[in-house]
Amino acid sequence: MSNIKQYITDNKERFIEELLEIIRIPSISADPAYKKDVANCAEVVAESLRKVGVQEVEILPTEGHPIVFGTHIIDPNLPTILIYGHYDVQPPDPLNLWLKPPFEPYIAPTEVHPEGAIFGRGSADDKGQFFMHVKAFEAMKANNSLTCNVKFLIEGEEEVGSAHLEDFVKNNHDKLKNDVILISDTHIYSKEQPSVTTGLRGLSYVEVSVTGPGRDLHSGLYGGAVPNPIHVLSKMIASLIDDEGHITIDGFYDNVEELSPEERSLMNELKDDPENFKNSISLREVQGEKGYTTLERIGIRPTLDCNGIWGGYIGEGAKTVIPSQAFAKISMRLVPNQTVEEITEKFTQYFKKIAPNTVHVQVKPHHGGLPYVLKSDTKEFLAAQRAMEKAFGKKVYPYRSGGSIPITSMFEKELSSKCVLMGFGMDTDAIHSPNEHFGISNYFLGIESIPYFFEEYCK
Ligand code: BES
Ligand code: MN
Ligand code: MN
Repeated sequence: MSNIKQYITDNKERFIEELLEIIRIPSISADPAYKKDVANCAEVVAESLRKVGVQEVEILPTEGHPIVFGTHIIDPNLPTILIYGHYDVQPPDPLNLWLKPPFEPYIAPTEVHPEGAIFGRGSADDKGQFFMHVKAFEAMKANNSLTCNVKFLIEGEEEVGSAHLEDFVKNNHDKLKNDVILISDTHIYSKEQPSVTTGLRGLSYVEVSVTGPGRDLHSGLYGGAVPNPIHVLSKMIASLIDDEGHITIDGFYDNVEELSPEERSLMNELKDDPENFKNSISLREVQGEKGYTTLERIGIRPTLDCNGIWGGYIGEGAKTVIPSQAFAKISMRLVPNQTVEEITEKFTQYFKKIAPNTVHVQVKPHHGGLPYVLKSDTKEFLAAQRAMEKAFGKKVYPYRSGGSIPITSMFEKELSSKCVLMGFGMDTDAIHSPNEHFGISNYFLGIESIPYFFEEYCK
């Protein structure tokens, strides 16, 4: 394995160049205008697998964007690790806030990454992270140290809810058969306290509309005598969370798994850094549910956030108008044992219940996903922890993240294997945001940790 480290060091420059090439492809899954680029990205990813010697590489079309699938069997009696990742990226807007164009990657230092970070859409989420697995495979192969079978499943629709991957998984149990699923699409807590993600929250996402009068009205002729949908909607949204940070939706917490004091103290062994947390997002003070730490609020508690709200006149100058309608997009992050159907239904009932009878309310559900938890006493977690401890030379903590990867719970249910969330990004990497970046040291520590995971898991 010491040869692995040498191999990575000897090939550093090329490993970076090859990643930049993939980041240059604008594989934006949400925007139909980029369909060709997404398909082209799948080709390049497939080619990168062939180039490192993966035995069988296919591009599998779906009704949406294609799936790249690779199989490398060295001995059917050995365990098989399935690598999952995504080559699609979020839309880069707002473009004017990028220091350089999002698909023209470049390297620059940051406070968190003084050694340099790769800037560009998808650098951390998830191109830089899935590509670590391609390069780790290359390194293992070059050193004759591949100790188990490997499958690669790199999809092109994660950022739009993995809609077509579900059917693919359901219909391809044999093809996907594996002993463990290894995913690098999450974050470490910090370079001082690296972590393996033991939990992801689920997601229920809805769009709501409030309709008042049947047409837009002159705000002088009608103002004061009719309901204003923007006011009504704002008040309704504000009332969804009370002064103690609890969500007011009837039955919202009914199925929420409460952690034991032991579990809570275990998760708080990782010391959060409130000052650093605030400073990193230029925030004056944190807020959240009473009785919980920031780590707990993000990791083990369900939440509700308005992601966007609009209606009425937002153009230049002033227009005197009471709009007929107002809209909002609302996300709820779920924890075990809440389900998407349950929470979407409870939201819809409640939102209709609190609407005054002066307006008409509609709720439209979007894609969602279930939460995922990997216990920290499992063989899978322990292999990842030992692997990262070897690469980082530091204690590695279990860490419950607040983000979502909806396919994880589906993988476990359909394929009966556990997902190990061994990600190397950082919260400050600005994923989904302008100037997304991925630390160069994170990239290489990831490439180094992966062969150690193979070694630990297969021994
Ligand atoms: N990789 C992220 C999720 C993530 C990031 C989890 C960092 C933990 C730490 C993934 O690509 C993502 O953005 N997921 C979406 C959900 C999806 C349905 C669009 C999310 O969490 O909002
Ligand atoms: Mn991702
Ligand atoms: Mn993402």
